[in-house]
Amino acid sequence: MADGTTWHSSDIDHVIVSEEQIRDKTAELAKQVAADHADAESILLVGVLKGAVMFMADFARALGRVGPPVELEFMAVSSYGQGTTSSGVVRILKDLDRDIAGRHVVVVEDIVDSGLTLSWLLKYLESRSAARVDVVALLRKPDALKVSIPVRYVGFDIPSEFVVGYGLDYAERYRDLPFVGVLKPSVYGRG
Ligand code: XMP
Ligand code: MG
Repeated sequence: MADGTTWHSSDIDHVIVSEEQIRDKTAELAKQVAADHADAESILLVGVLKGAVMFMADFARALGRVGPPVELEFMAVSSYGQGTTSSGVVRILKDLDRDIAGRHVVVVEDIVDSGLTLSWLLKYLESRSAARVDVVALLRKPDALKVSIPVRYVGFDIPSEFVVGYGLDYAERYRDLPFVGVLKPSVYGRG
């Protein structure tokens, strides 16, 4: 666009977490994880596609600078159910490529909302005999506090609003925005 903004960043009503806040918090979380896993030979990060890709890329580099060697794995899961809420019934679309037995695993999540996806995923990873499974989530919504899942590292607690950006999408768009924000109401129903 002529004014220098992209068409889609103009769809944002307000920013919830800025690019700078994400950068600072990512470094802070990496330091905490590095300190807690100082005895690990390496850390296996498991990113949950697609939402966690941006955070995974930045977090892995931040952790690699201050902690043990980092290895990357990805899983893709889909929760049965409709629209923007999850049902807790999870289907694996892409499984781990290798054995995680005995490994220090850190699950990298974009957002924990109801916590149902994560609680399923933690049971699954534990059943694969990881030595230790921790979770780092960039964002957490208040609903997540109702379920007892141990999200050890949380970036930001945010209001219960649907957010996009930094990996998070609405109809597959806005993942590329460098910040997390709320869409203008007019955007919904447009596609
Ligand atoms: P649960 O409820 O199982 O869901 O913790 C976690 C997954 O739901 C998606 N999710 C969102 N995606 N904006 C999004 O783009 C949101 O505000 C939002 N809230 C939940 C996301 O895929 C997450 O991994
Ligand atoms: Mg999504």
